[in-house]
Amino acid sequence: MAKSFDVVIIGAGPAGYVAAIRCAQLGLNTACVDEWKNSAGQPSLGGTCVNVGCIPSKALLDSSENYERVEHKFAAHGIKVDGVHLDVGTMLARKDKIVRTLTSGVTGLFKKNKITSLHGHGRLVGGGGPWQIAVSSQEKTEQIEARHVIIATGSVPTPLPQAPVDNDRIVDNSGALAFPEVPKRLGVIGAGVIGLELGSVWRRLGAQVTVIERIPDFLPAVDAQVSKEALRLFTAQGLDIHLGASLTSVKVGKKQVNLEYQDKQGEHKLEVDKLIVAVGRSPYTGDLGADKIGLKLDAKGFILVDQHCRTNLQNVYAIGDVVRGPMLAHKGEEEGVMAAELIAGQAGHVNYETVPWIIYTMPEIAWVGQTEEALKAAGIGYNKGTFPFSANGRAQAIHETAGFVKILAHANTDRILGVHIIGPLASEMITEAVVAMEFSASAEDLARIIHAHPSLSEVFHEAALGVGKRAIHI
Ligand code: FAD
Ligand code: NAI
Repeated sequence: MAKSFDVVIIGAGPAGYVAAIRCAQLGLNTACVDEWKNSAGQPSLGGTCVNVGCIPSKALLDSSENYERVEHKFAAHGIKVDGVHLDVGTMLARKDKIVRTLTSGVTGLFKKNKITSLHGHGRLVGGGGPWQIAVSSQEKTEQIEARHVIIATGSVPTPLPQAPVDNDRIVDNSGALAFPEVPKRLGVIGAGVIGLELGSVWRRLGAQVTVIERIPDFLPAVDAQVSKEALRLFTAQGLDIHLGASLTSVKVGKKQVNLEYQDKQGEHKLEVDKLIVAVGRSPYTGDLGADKIGLKLDAKGFILVDQHCRTNLQNVYAIGDVVRGPMLAHKGEEEGVMAAELIAGQAGHVNYETVPWIIYTMPEIAWVGQTEEALKAAGIGYNKGTFPFSANGRAQAIHETAGFVKILAHANTDRILGVHIIGPLASEMITEAVVAMEFSASAEDLARIIHAHPSLSEVFHEAALGVGKRAIHI
């Protein structure tokens, strides 16, 4: 007889594995099916995020930032370092070890929570009451059944037909996290989050990086004041960013890739040693059985869900990158918690208005809520407070003074509508903004909260004071 579960989750990325743990915590008999294999051919839980996304990219961002500090920033502290050597092998091995630690951490969490972990491809083959799921690995196919199903199959890199990934000269995010040596000349297609983060990694390590972006605006989802400052700073760091540039030709040679592109100035040629393609990610529902069971997808291939991640099929939820909304690990995790709690009869909920975004460049960019442009377009009156890191004692002490915090508050109610940060540790500071917005705080509330001195968070405090035109240190 088929093994039977209360819940089967397909996909063990951050959305799926968090859903599985929450289901188990709530006393549901839970199985999680995942097909990911690492480069050694071993099952590896954690999905894109842990294996080839958030975690390894942040490991390399940190290593490369340390290298840049030694090379270019230590001198200002009076520390002279001669003969700095870069050992890319050790750097990659450190990153791989972190990935192994965290993927085996997920395995450990599954064991601790008594979650049945099944390695293989999951496909919905029928049912409804209960659902039938076929799990296929190289060795066998077994059929299991579940009262509830949560689909968390994630996303994959969107291919660029002109530049197919060959994992040698042309790579996607996986290849870009594993160059065995620093390419002298690196091309990046797409000035999005991956292009800027991984472009920064290899630039810091010594590559000449050229970024080709199709649209004329830089980071259009980001508040315009922040994106303008970011473009200025990244260009000064050495990223050669070409906006409004259409690729017209990509030719792969034995040792190089030859590109041609067109922008306002005309036709250009570019020769690079390696090319990263980072033009977005697409939802993944390959061989999931969606057609067969009548699961509805939208025109872009996302599984259609309501505010509570319910699909059109009874007792089938979908969460994470495979559904609408930002493709962010923490958004998927919260959806996982919500789906589990709804299945257990509780009142799960995700506030999509307060999902923070972070780009882990240096300086970092972080934001939550509405941009000035969005408020203007919606005709919502607002006041703003902006404060620069250069006027902050801690930022001066750590020698990271670029950037600012901007707070946007409703003109009548003073309620915080958006917070935009470009600066050091913006990734950590943005959480204060998320908490404030979750509690419907006003800028005045923040302005009256004590912020420790000296700390970067004082910039946030001063920006809140600035909304009422009473910043102190400027
Ligand atoms: P995924 O992580 O993609 O996991 C899906 C899992 O399901 C995979 O293991 C897959 O093998 C498995 N699967 C798919 N179909 C089946 C099937 N039919 N049967 C069995 N298993 C299946 N987000 C952030 O919030 N912060 C970051 O700093 C960040 N950095 C990133 C850096 C890079 C380079 C990339 C590529 C992404 C980054 N992201 C980041 C995005 C983040 O990785 C995704 O939002 C997140 O992984 C989505 O989680 P998920 O669980 O929905 O899907
Ligand atoms: P993206 O959507 O952030 O950026 C893709 C860029 O490529 C866009 O600017 C787009 O205009 C451009 N583009 C598309 N087609 C092009 C073409 N033919 N020629 C030139 N440019 C082209 O996507 P990206 O960087 O691939 O990342 C995918 C997603 O992964 C992100 O949107 C984000 O959700 C997630 N991610 C999150 C991170 C974080 O939270 N720090 C880090 C990395 C990825």
